[in-house]
Amino acid sequence: MIKKYITIIISLLFCICLFGCRDVVDGSPATSEEETGDDEIVIGFSQLGAESDWRSANTESMKEAFSNENGYKLIFEDGQQKQSNQITAIRTFIQQEVDYIVLAPVTETGWDTVLQEAKDAGIPVILVDRMIDIEDESLFTCWVGSDFGLEGRKITSWLERFTYMNGIKSEDIHIVNIQGTLGASSQIGRTEALRSAVKEYGWDLVAEVSGDFTQAKSREVMAELLEKHDNINVVYCENDNEALGAIEAIEAAGKKVGSDIRNGEIMILSFDGVNEEALAYLSEGKITCIAECNPLQGPRIQAVIALLEVSGNPDKFSYVEERIYSMYTEIRQVTVDGKLYEVTFLE
Ligand code: AHR
Repeated sequence: MIKKYITIIISLLFCICLFGCRDVVDGSPATSEEETGDDEIVIGFSQLGAESDWRSANTESMKEAFSNENGYKLIFEDGQQKQSNQITAIRTFIQQEVDYIVLAPVTETGWDTVLQEAKDAGIPVILVDRMIDIEDESLFTCWVGSDFGLEGRKITSWLERFTYMNGIKSEDIHIVNIQGTLGASSQIGRTEALRSAVKEYGWDLVAEVSGDFTQAKSREVMAELLEKHDNINVVYCENDNEALGAIEAIEAAGKKVGSDIRNGEIMILSFDGVNEEALAYLSEGKITCIAECNPLQGPRIQAVIALLEVSGNPDKFSYVEERIYSMYTEIRQVTVDGKLYEVTFLE
């Protein structure tokens, strides 16, 4: 019992830093300690899968935050990239009468019915990472994740600076986009950012094809793209695992990756900055620029739950801070929507 209160107090302090003080509102967690007589907070976490290093880091962060030592019982379900598995997991959590459901949704649409069921059972649903597209926003308590559109705009703004500084004409930029899982917020935000930059700057978008956020699929689709198109000089990979797969395919085709696109190299742009091999490739110049996507959301969700435990009111939407990495020291900052973002240079 004491352990639980210490955990809640520590989380609340973290929470106050993150969200500031909030008013107390009606709408309270369904199964309180008083109701169950149990001193653990039971969390049902439906993780969408294990498709990338980012995902593994995210799962680890959640497991660490919701450990037994911290006073929680975590019921973890891996959805294996299938929404139907995630819906089944949520229904099981409802039957188990968990205190909170945390959902990292694979795609945005199709959650209305099951989240209504959770609401009817009085169980708060907290979204992490990707967003959902839902009519009634009262079906989830709050969301914590990344601004995927901003990540994309940072990296396209970096590419625009690069072309300008190197006197490369817009029409000489031939990009392929290896997209993430179609319908996922991270795919939608990053793809939209690229499409609007293509329109704005007049780059040539050669092809868009999904690599499903995995290394194997990306290698396969990149090999096909290289067979079909001989002018590709920029590959926009929607995560680091896809960047690794694309590099394998490019090198297997006897081509070179790097930023010297005027001399035949193929530039790799990527997202995440979590995979160690990808970061090593960034240092070596094989990957030219990475927009960070921060997977360490466990403590943030823990802080949200601590606030809900005392009937607090967390922000409906909380974005995590993220950087942009490169080794190309000529570009020190990028501007997106009038705001400057410093580029972080890796050692
Ligand atoms: O939704 C976040 C994305 O999902 C990460 O960029 C990617 O690596 C993961 O699979």
